[in-house]
Amino acid sequence: PFRGVAARMLVIRDITERTQMQEQMLQTAKLATLGEMAAGLVHELSQPLNIIRLAAEGALMLIERGKASPEWQAQQFQLVAEQSERAAEIIDDIRIFSRRDTSPVQIFDALQGIRTATDVLLGQLRPDGITLDLDLPVGTMPVRGRRVQLEQVVMNLLNNAHHALRDRKPDMPPDWNGHIDVLAKCDRDQLRIVISDNGPGISETIKSRIFEPFFTTKEAGRGTGLGLSVSFSLIAAMGGRLDLQGSPVGASFVISLPLDQKSFDPSPPPPAPLCAPSSGTFADAHILVVDDETAAADALAHYLRALGCRVSIAGTGQKAWELFSADPADVVITDLRMPAGNGEELVEKLRDFDPLLPIIIVTGHLGATERVADNLQDDRCAVLKKPVALGGLGDLIATFLQPPGE
Ligand SMILES: Nc1ncnc2c1ncn2[C@@H]1O[C@H](COP(=O)(O)OP(=O)(O)OP(=O)(O)O)[C@@H](O)[C@H]1O
Ligand SMILES: [Mg+2]
Repeated sequence: PFRGVAARMLVIRDITERTQMQEQMLQTAKLATLGEMAAGLVHELSQPLNIIRLAAEGALMLIERGKASPEWQAQQFQLVAEQSERAAEIIDDIRIFSRRDTSPVQIFDALQGIRTATDVLLGQLRPDGITLDLDLPVGTMPVRGRRVQLEQVVMNLLNNAHHALRDRKPDMPPDWNGHIDVLAKCDRDQLRIVISDNGPGISETIKSRIFEPFFTTKEAGRGTGLGLSVSFSLIAAMGGRLDLQGSPVGASFVISLPLDQKSFDPSPPPPAPLCAPSSGTFADAHILVVDDETAAADALAHYLRALGCRVSIAGTGQKAWELFSADPADVVITDLRMPAGNGEELVEKLRDFDPLLPIIIVTGHLGATERVADNLQDDRCAVLKKPVALGGLGDLIATFLQPPGE
């Protein structure tokens, strides 16, 4: 009551400044993460790159001196291939942060994904004497997202538990047994997947940091510190949450995902990758490789020639168009971002000239250029991410070289 009369009080507060402050703080936080991310990335990529360089330069020196046996050379190349794979994995993880995954989102059975992930890791747990209990409800648990990504998250969590248990073993009595529990249950409209272990657990001091990119307590070469941060992003992208929950022993992580009961349509699993290219299909094919990095173009040309293809190389989009006009190729493999003569322009021109020409775009960028490539909804055009696996590229060319419709 106000002076004896019933009254309402209305307070209007201008919160522009507060919202601006909050936005600014968010921006600062983002930049800080970016800085850490860049530092981590530099560190993680410089290791494999260093090994690659040492192997290559060492090999070059011994070859010049005529002292490199074929076996030793093969070993060095093996090393280079392995380390490139390692770098590629790190780059793949980073790509996930930028949410540029282009595989389609589907409704899938989460339980199936959990089973696949645990199956894959069981073989690694057994030799270390670690047991695993899988407790899944009957039926299906449809969720929306990408099945391989949920599998990746479950595998990341299982890997972490595995490492924690393996490291704890030496400090425990001989009859101690490492154990992991994987439990899934339906909680109203949410699916909860709980992965717990009886390892050392996670201390208060690092609890707040474990989801940061590149935060790791493992020694160099054993952990990149990306597992949990990538998992967190993946689950968030599926509309869910990944949390560390309190537990009396060990560590316990919970994945919560919204269930998608209404629209469940058990879609078939994605097709298995094609087998290695069969050399017969490549004979006489003419391939135009467009890349301003001569070393990359040459390496690719070498591989394609070994398969029996005829290869032309162009260093710019313009040169490529000239070459193509004089001598059309059966397949064009092109980089998108090149200093002279834009790759996108070339792709457009080629497409206008021949709507069925197979075009393979090889890109190393996460930003705008990759989006352009994604927008090309065209089944005679494919986008490959650098670093490119030669086997996959060979398969792709083989498919493209078959007349359309077969
Ligand atoms: N189950 C667990 N038990 C004990 N500590 C854990 C567990 N899971 C994660 N951690 C701690 O969290 C840190 C970060 O984990 P994360 O998976 O992000 O990176 P990583 O395992 O160190 O490296 P990566 O997964 O990239 O190989 C680990 O280094 C570890 O200290
Ligand atoms: Mg990990």
